[in-house]
Amino acid sequence: MVTRRRMIGAALATGGGVLLLRTTVRPAASAASAQDTADTADGAGTGARHTHPADTPDPGPDAGPGLVEKFTATLPVPPVLTPTSTEGGADTYAVTMLRSFARILPGHRTEVLTYNGAFPGPVIRARSGRPVIVRQTNLLEDAVSVHLHGSRVPVASDGGPMNLLNPGASRTYTYPNDQPHASLWFHDHAHHMESEHVYRGLAGTYLLTDETERALPLPAGRYDLPIALRDARFDASGTLVYRMDDPFNRTTILANGRPWPKVEVAARRYRLRLLNSSNLRFFSLRLADGGPITQIGSDGGLLERPHTTDSVDLSPGERADVVIDFSRYPVGSTVVLTNAMPPGPAEHVGQVLRFDVVRSADDPSSVPDRLRTLPALPAPVRERTVVLKVEEGTNGAAPRGLIDGKVYDPARVDAAVAFGTSEVWTVVNANTDVPHNFHLHLVQFRVLERNGKAPGPEESGLKDTVRLLPGESVRLQAVFDSYRGRYPYHCHLLDHSAMGMMAQMEIS
Ligand code: C2O
Ligand code: CU
Ligand code: CU
Repeated sequence: MVTRRRMIGAALATGGGVLLLRTTVRPAASAASAQDTADTADGAGTGARHTHPADTPDPGPDAGPGLVEKFTATLPVPPVLTPTSTEGGADTYAVTMLRSFARILPGHRTEVLTYNGAFPGPVIRARSGRPVIVRQTNLLEDAVSVHLHGSRVPVASDGGPMNLLNPGASRTYTYPNDQPHASLWFHDHAHHMESEHVYRGLAGTYLLTDETERALPLPAGRYDLPIALRDARFDASGTLVYRMDDPFNRTTILANGRPWPKVEVAARRYRLRLLNSSNLRFFSLRLADGGPITQIGSDGGLLERPHTTDSVDLSPGERADVVIDFSRYPVGSTVVLTNAMPPGPAEHVGQVLRFDVVRSADDPSSVPDRLRTLPALPAPVRERTVVLKVEEGTNGAAPRGLIDGKVYDPARVDAAVAFGTSEVWTVVNANTDVPHNFHLHLVQFRVLERNGKAPGPEESGLKDTVRLLPGESVRLQAVFDSYRGRYPYHCHLLDHSAMGMMAQMEIS
């Protein structure tokens, strides 16, 4: 019997920057085979299967760093989708999910799962008040579900974990865009499979704008770059290696699907829309020279006021909108965007991409002191506590992801919410050595407290995902006044949600 190492989560101690690792030796009966059994047991696996046999030997350490010379590839700008129709007051798109090959590593073609062949997925641009209709066709062998993360949508178009689109089938998702501007993203959400599907490429960007945002003199057009950051693991032939809960081996850092790219910039301001699309990796981003980064937005759009910092933290699924002024750097100079968050060798995971300042440019853009005004929160009617925990499997069982002590059960309602009310949720990470985060569908919430204190300015805006380092707790407030029905909430470390760390609220 083949044995391989299993590791639970990247464990990050906040205090002295100590990295705590929890490792166990487990037999080949991997999480993947256990999950397959679970699929059959709960009937969720119709058409779904894992794309690798559970008993293939571990391919050894990540070969990605050895196959790449850093800062040679150019950061790709993901393609913007063109609507097939703009009639009837809505923009209609057709998207096909299919297997494809991407040139990720030099000299290698890597098989990936894609929306329309693009890795990472394409960009959809939308405007508040104007609906977007996406006709999705699934040409993959697995059932899928397409979720627009951060959106306010009716249940039927939310892309919940059980609302599957089977192989060969098509369906239409309707996004009302009845919400303010925000940098959203869409990704697979098929129960137990979301983690591997997203890892293999099923993730795209959705930029929703509105008049408030458009009226501001922020950098725009080619000076407004969406950048999706993630990690990955490759074997020596350039194949993407997916193993459940494998943060320590994913040491290749990709930006828009390329490893450690360079970004040629003019010596002026740029707006960067950063998304952490990793399954497990947290980033703590800085410029190598410690230079200023002006954060202007978070998950749910612009902050009320910009704030200048030297680091930006992003847990999986979170976004940060930042402005960097490259006029501080002489033309001809370079500056690396670094990551201070383990795990992995700092020479690899500690570097993300490099900005090469190649020309001067006029800069009519600016960052106003006041970006938007957020509505005041109503009085909450109810408080709840949500406890997140991963538990090591005993007797060779797969580890389990738990919310309030339970694995996800699509037939169970975990939180009954009265429509039209506001609630305060205290979310607790009960693991002392594993980080989590917390994502609510349907709403953009406000962070009231982090560990009993007021949150930092980066968490003062609208959020849909919050980080929870080991032992942390966050109080958040949400208003449930848009749609009724059952929506999930979960840890957005997708390997954890695939292990069951997901629950369900019913708004009625
Ligand atoms: Cu980004 Cu339920 O997910
Ligand atoms: Cu979501
Ligand atoms: Cu988690």
